[in-house]
Amino acid sequence: MKVTVVGAGAVGATCADNIARKELCEELVLLDIKEGLAEGKAQDMMQSATLLGFDTRITGSTNDYSKTAGSDVVVVTSGIPRKPGMTREELIGTNAGIVKNVCENILKYSPNAIFIIISNPMDTMTYLALSATGIPKNRIIGMGGTLDSARFKYQLSQRLGCSPADLNAVVVGGHGDTTMIPLIRYATWNSVPVTNFLDEATQQQVVADTMVGGATLTKLIGTSAWYAPGAAGAALVESIVRDEKKLFTCCVQLNGEYGQSDICMGVPVVIGRNGWEKIVEFGLNDSEQAMFNKSAEAVRTMNDVLKTL
Ligand code: 2OP
Repeated sequence: MKVTVVGAGAVGATCADNIARKELCEELVLLDIKEGLAEGKAQDMMQSATLLGFDTRITGSTNDYSKTAGSDVVVVTSGIPRKPGMTREELIGTNAGIVKNVCENILKYSPNAIFIIISNPMDTMTYLALSATGIPKNRIIGMGGTLDSARFKYQLSQRLGCSPADLNAVVVGGHGDTTMIPLIRYATWNSVPVTNFLDEATQQQVVADTMVGGATLTKLIGTSAWYAPGAAGAALVESIVRDEKKLFTCCVQLNGEYGQSDICMGVPVVIGRNGWEKIVEFGLNDSEQAMFNKSAEAVRTMNDVLKTL
């Protein structure tokens, strides 16, 4: 197996580090446009191999896509991160050109790759990656909902005083502060609805805190977060290369599912060796569906900006 991570910034490097530690592939390429950055981080990670006990070979490349040839999975993290006070949507002008260029270059050398898109605004970048590459929709996966669902479980675990590992909870919709939809009605603590344990006000607070999860960290750190985003990217790589068929919320192209078409948005999908293999319909109630439709409107408005660039 060969995996490429494009973008050796904090998210890309953390994702690569997780992939290597878990030995998800024999060959891992880290690529960045900045001279020496990917080579340096690749070497640094390789120097941890004997200490951590992994066998994955990591190499770095300054914008030489021939090094990525034959990749099975490619994680795209390129682009600028947001600064405190910025929304993910404000990054579109800069990141759209970068992501399009990356996807086209990758495809020249890895025509069968499965793409995982992390760059923001993630829903629109996933939509763009799909149109820029023209590859089958199942091979383009936006990571956002996987991260947002992990953040949702974290927030719930804080309120319940329990292990996040005992929780099941999903966030659907867009990967934006106002477009994501934490589905608290479906969240469970070892199969028991969390709504049995949390009052209405606490439930609403958990949902609100989840939605601004990324913004809260950006304010604290001064730039966009990387540990959970990198880990979320690696979890998707793992489900693909090991054909785990795990259920994650990912941004994928909808063709009537969840009442939407010609859009990429976060819905529960089975992730396996063929990319996203199946959309699972949760059966939203009327108010959840209304929120999903509103989220779709916002994502569509952002997608329309692509036409003006
Ligand atoms: C975040 O929410 C990187 O969009 C990502 O932290």
